[in-house]
Parts: sequence; C-alpha cells; structure tokens
Amino acid sequence: MSRKRVGILISGRGSNMASLVDAARRDDCAYEIACVISNRPDAPGLQIARNAGIEAVALDHKALGTRDALDAAIHEALLANGAELVVCAGFMRIMTGDFIAKWEGSMINIHPSLLPLFKGLDTHEQALQAGVRVHGCSVHFISAELDAGAIIAQGVVKIGLDDDADTLAARVLPVEHLIYPAVLGALAEGRIRLENGQTVFADDDAASLSILATG
Ligand code: GAR
Repeated sequence: MSRKRVGILISGRGSNMASLVDAARRDDCAYEIACVISNRPDAPGLQIARNAGIEAVALDHKALGTRDALDAAIHEALLANGAELVVCAGFMRIMTGDFIAKWEGSMINIHPSLLPLFKGLDTHEQALQAGVRVHGCSVHFISAELDAGAIIAQGVVKIGLDDDADTLAARVLPVEHLIYPAVLGALAEGRIRLENGQTVFADDDAASLSILATG
C-alpha cells in the first residue's frame, strides 16, 4: 500500500499532531507524516516532531511579514516534502484564498466546537456562555470562509454543571485525538471527498466517524 504523504500545520502545543504521528506508526495506517510546519518557531510541537524523526519546519510569520509571504513559504515547504494532504492541527493563522484554493479538497482542520456553532477563538467559553448542554469538536474541509468548510465528522461531549472552559477543553481534547487520525485515515484511503462544497462518503464506515463520548 502506498501511503499518502501528509503535511501538518501547527502553531503551538501539538497534541493533535502527536496523535496523528502516533497513528502513522501503525503498519496499516494509510498515511505518513511528510513534515510538520509551524508559523511560530517556539512552538513546542516542533520539538515533538523532531524527536519523532519528522522534518520540522519553522516559518516565522512575523519575519515573513505578510499573509501572502507566509502562505507561499508554507506551500513551498509542503511541495518540497512531497505533501499530498494538509492537516491543520491547532494552526492559528488565517490563510489566503489563493493558498486554500491550491489545497481545496485535500486540506482539513479540527475545530474545538460543534460547528457551525462557535467559530473563531475561545470556543469552550462561547459554549458555556451560550448555555448549550453538549459541545465538542468538528473536523472539516477547509474552505475560503473561516471555520465554515464542509463538515466530515464531529465528536460530542456533555456539558456538566461544574464545567468551566478548562475542564471542558480537557474533555474535548481526547475526543479530538481519537477522531482526527480516524478521519485522516479515511481521507487518505479515498473514502471521503469534497464535491461541490459537500462532504461525500464512500461507505457507511466513513460516514459514521463521529463520536458520542460518554462521561
Ligand atoms: C485544539 O483544541 C484544536 O482543536 C484547536 O487548538 C487546539 C490545539 O491544540 N484549534 C483551533 O482552535 C483552530 N481554530 P494542540 O496544539 O495540542 O493540538
């Protein structure tokens, strides 16, 4: 089996990236990690990637100056490392339409809310403020509009009476770590694709990657 080569974009801690790296160690995994790219040279995730023997690229958005320059540098690094799929894992920069168009259908993101609710930042706080009783994460194709691309799978957790933003984040994160490698596997196997702005699933298994977490 030839594995799809994946470039991962991060900005910080890199725990989702680490879950993808771990999953790629399995013999039957449909993808391999080609490189990890961070817009922040001090992102702890870069060291995790280096320790795992993965090409880790720091592209300082401040030094590069503009969004166009950052996206051009990222695109070049992805191509130089033979990436076929792009995975955003806590990548906190808004991308240009040009860059997104180049990777349309091949670039996914994980967002810590049940989209289309709570786009942007501070999603756990937003959920608590809104008083919703369930919350979670969404994996979606990246489109020109922020956090609005076609949804592939969602992970759901209950909100408890004692929850604050930190406890909620701590319960959603392990669900992110389960759902993201599973979705990426299905994408790499060609069982999920983007068609006319909608996610198309090849089979029931691909369509049921969503998770209802208990506890
Ligand atoms: C994750 O919770 C991810 O869903 C979120 O940032 C965190 C990164 O953690 N992403 C976004 O908010 C994107 N808008 P990690 O670096 O440990 O994976």
